[in-house]
Amino acid sequence: MGKKIVALVGGSGHLGALIANALLEKPDVQLRLLVRAGSREKSAELEKRGAQVVEGSLGPEDGASLAALCKGAYAVVSAVQGGPDVIIEGQKRLLRAARDAGVRRLIPSDYSLDLFKVKPGNITTSEMRRQFALIEEADRGNVEVVHVLNGGFLDRGVLFGFIRVIDAEKQTAYVWGDGKALMDWTTYEDTARYTAEAAVDDRPVPRKLAVAGSVVDFAQLVREYEAGSGKKLKIERLGSLDDLSARISELQKANPQNLLAYLPLMYLRSILTGEGKLEQLMNDRYPSIRPTTVREYVAKEGL
Ligand SMILES: NC(=O)c1ccc[n+]([C@@H]2O[C@H](COP(=O)([O-])OP(=O)(O)OC[C@H]3O[C@@H](n4cnc5c(N)ncnc54)[C@H](OP(=O)(O)O)[C@@H]3O)[C@@H](O)[C@H]2O)c1
Repeated sequence: MGKKIVALVGGSGHLGALIANALLEKPDVQLRLLVRAGSREKSAELEKRGAQVVEGSLGPEDGASLAALCKGAYAVVSAVQGGPDVIIEGQKRLLRAARDAGVRRLIPSDYSLDLFKVKPGNITTSEMRRQFALIEEADRGNVEVVHVLNGGFLDRGVLFGFIRVIDAEKQTAYVWGDGKALMDWTTYEDTARYTAEAAVDDRPVPRKLAVAGSVVDFAQLVREYEAGSGKKLKIERLGSLDDLSARISELQKANPQNLLAYLPLMYLRSILTGEGKLEQLMNDRYPSIRPTTVREYVAKEGL
């Protein structure tokens, strides 16, 4: 049997590069990348390591590129970031190209808390991904679509940055409400490895693949940090969950054009209320991966 071709869109991005690495480590996989003309340089290293490159994007004029990307592919993985033109329209074109080429599986760019449970309006960027999910349900034909759900990224840039439950510099942890809801945290790298395993899996993969490195409530998160770092955190209680919603509305009103002004708090709300909690974790499906916990990450990174 020849190698399995896995096509990847977004390989020049943060998560995408890690998915590319995980796939390149598999001797029985041929990685194929969709690369925008202006981003070719960013993919030079992956190309040197054996990835095939198809130039193109996810736009209406990219039909030939998408067909070339999907031709003979076993799976198509997306790790793109963008607005509705990319997440809905672009991924719709990708799905159709995959379906027309007889691709077995498509993994869209979700990598999120359980966006299917998040109430409409609560997280702006989940909205687009749910809309894409409705489209794929109707349009996928024989393509198996797998939504990878990993909670929040456990890394510096997210748990300790964008969502900032813990500020390692200020040695402070922040919470709204009672902090009793369980939260899911997984590193970028582990999410990428699970995604690569799911892409090449010979067995049918469930529509929602939920994985997590640590499942902790706020108090346990603080303890994990303290055990990993040997440092003690100050705790700041910022108000109730209603106060958090009021803060989000305030920021939305003040910055209607600037999603980034309030998006982190939207994620934080769905984490702290528990509405985005993953159900039925499937880590065991891929026992070769032992995902990093908060404590291990903090110790390794010296946070
Ligand atoms: N759960 C969490 O805590 C969490 C946190 C952050 C991100 N995420 C999710 O992870 C996924 C990846 O995010 P990321 O931060 O890794 O993204 P990123 O670093 O911004 O990378 C985005 C990638 O998408 C590519 N791209 C964008 N538009 C494209 C188009 N029209 N055609 C082809 N390629 C296109 C970019 O290519 P160029 O190099 O050409 O620009 C780049 O490779 C997203 O779904 C995001 O929502 C989850």
